[in-house]
Amino acid sequence: MNTLQKLKQEIVARSLQAFREGLFSGTSGNMSCCLREEGRMLITPTSVRYDVMRAEDIVVMRLDGTILEGRLQPSSEWRMHAAIYEKKPGVSAVFHTHSPYATAFAVNRQTIPAVLIEAFAFLGGDIRCADYATPGTREVGLNALPALEGRMGCTLANHGVLAVGKDLQQAYLNAEYVEDVARIYSLARAVGTPVPLEKL
Ligand code: 13P
Repeated sequence: MNTLQKLKQEIVARSLQAFREGLFSGTSGNMSCCLREEGRMLITPTSVRYDVMRAEDIVVMRLDGTILEGRLQPSSEWRMHAAIYEKKPGVSAVFHTHSPYATAFAVNRQTIPAVLIEAFAFLGGDIRCADYATPGTREVGLNALPALEGRMGCTLANHGVLAVGKDLQQAYLNAEYVEDVARIYSLARAVGTPVPLEKL
């Protein structure tokens, strides 16, 4: 099996896992990886249920929007993914979730403090909220850049979560930790006054 086919299968498998774990809901959320040397990205199609998504549904495209492979339309957030790849050279996988605890903070446009060591070890610190931008526009990605400075994840105002990594495995783990920190912080607030960490 060639690299492209393996990556398509990995995106499908991780998307289904994300749906089952509650990181994705409905058909929302999207995942991509970038083959930088070739200037191509592989991305989930828009509005396809994760329990029926197949490897052949994954769209291969250039960062300028040119479709190279796939019979479906790419995620409506492909411009956000492309903007991140263009502006963050160390990133080769992008994962956008609607995980509920973290998205609740995104709706409040609140930073999630670094209350767990994983916030530093995996994410780089607290989880900032990027300024609102109209879904589907390049601005969603551009507005996330300051929030991602020195970080591997952030939230997007009234929208969801953005996690990045050097590969799909790392981006996935970072998205899990964004949700974990948000959930623990919410629970801690319900029973007392959480103490944020200043460093690891
Ligand atoms: P699609 O990737 O299905 O277009 O989902 C959009 C989305 O998650 C907007 O937040």
